[in-house]
Amino acid sequence: MQILEHKELASRAEKILRQNDMGGWTRAAPNLYPHQWSWDSAFIAIGLAHLDVRRAALELRTLFAHQWATGRVPHIVFNPKAPPESYYPGAEHWACAAASPDAPPAPPYTSCLGQPPVHAIAVWHIWEAAGREDEESLSSTRAFLHDIYPRLFAWHRYLATDRDPEKSGLVTIYHPWGSGTDNSPRWDAALAAVEVGDLPPYPRYDLQHVDDPSQRPTNADYDRYLWLVRLVKRAGCDERVIYRSHPFLVKDVLSSAILVAANEALLNIAEVVGAPDGDRELIAAWIERGRQGLTACWDTDLKLCLDYDLRAARPLRVRTVAGFAPLIAGGQSPEQLEALLEVLDSPAFMGHPGLRWPVPPSTSPEEPGFHPRSYWRGPTWPVFNWLLWWSLLRAGESERAERLRRAALEQLTADGRFGEYYEPFTGEPIGSLAQSWTAAVALDWLAG
Ligand code: SER
Repeated sequence: MQILEHKELASRAEKILRQNDMGGWTRAAPNLYPHQWSWDSAFIAIGLAHLDVRRAALELRTLFAHQWATGRVPHIVFNPKAPPESYYPGAEHWACAAASPDAPPAPPYTSCLGQPPVHAIAVWHIWEAAGREDEESLSSTRAFLHDIYPRLFAWHRYLATDRDPEKSGLVTIYHPWGSGTDNSPRWDAALAAVEVGDLPPYPRYDLQHVDDPSQRPTNADYDRYLWLVRLVKRAGCDERVIYRSHPFLVKDVLSSAILVAANEALLNIAEVVGAPDGDRELIAAWIERGRQGLTACWDTDLKLCLDYDLRAARPLRVRTVAGFAPLIAGGQSPEQLEALLEVLDSPAFMGHPGLRWPVPPSTSPEEPGFHPRSYWRGPTWPVFNWLLWWSLLRAGESERAERLRRAALEQLTADGRFGEYYEPFTGEPIGSLAQSWTAAVALDWLAG
């Protein structure tokens, strides 16, 4: 096995981001994902900030140019130049502009869902990177912060209102794609209750881009995904209607925790741009409410946070990395931090004796729904390792964070191909190769 030097890894990562650069936005991967994905772009911007702060800002300017009137940042912005057979479901299938007056009316079209709100965190990283550069970078980035702040605020307000009518502090998702962790066993029980109606045949272009189909969600999963898309569109993509009629309605603790951390970043941004006091009070209230919501989802037995199925009115009891949500949100009590770290180190996650590198499998290998090659059912994800590393640093766990960074980088230097995810026991890169956000987080780790 070839072990790369860090310098070589950084130059390969930079090359991948350049190759995937479509001029103002970055495709998530060369073949499997030929469009702009929302949370991918946020992580990509964090990496780009080390190469060119203006380009990093442009990544998010482009994404937010397609924000919906409601504040929703769509999970995909479709590249009109990509051939229709490159990705399914593409713009023609979503056809959101026809389904909702709130969608951008002209191409490039978008999907009707969102993804975890990492964007304000990325904007703050760009600001910090600009602070290490000259006055010109700082002033262009200050202008970017002024432009993007109202859009970020509208995005977070949408999540705190339309997506949390109960004011629980927790974000509701109505499609597994909205969680970013599509086929995680987190959603198995809630998806099992979805009865799929009459669905015309559809292609699985994604399977052409992986070595074996087990790396991707199953056909049964896809039937449900496409059925739920149909229902979202039938509801006019309107959360009030979705709340009344939709069969899959879940409080997502990972998105909720990311929103708390992103609101902290938004508070910093509000300070820089001199936002009104009323905004800042609202953001601070969202942070407080988010933390309370996560506290209500804490399972004292598993010592993890659990998603909540609103339709079945019960917690979704599965051990996945989403359970570390309070660590990502930050501000947890010392006792809760200790409990979370104990679980993280245990054989249920990073202490599992079979792991190739001590980085957390996306689903605990002790869970019946675990699968070491299947997307979010077990593989380790460099982008999640980054989120955990950054959260550990914020929690004051710098030595532990450094151990994680080293292990995560060792995983990437072993093959240098920037896998989308990795088989946890063999370390094989799977899913897509040359995945943009994997290259981006590597650049951030290597700059640290
Ligand atoms: N993550 C989904 C996919 O794999 C859609 O966003 O295509």
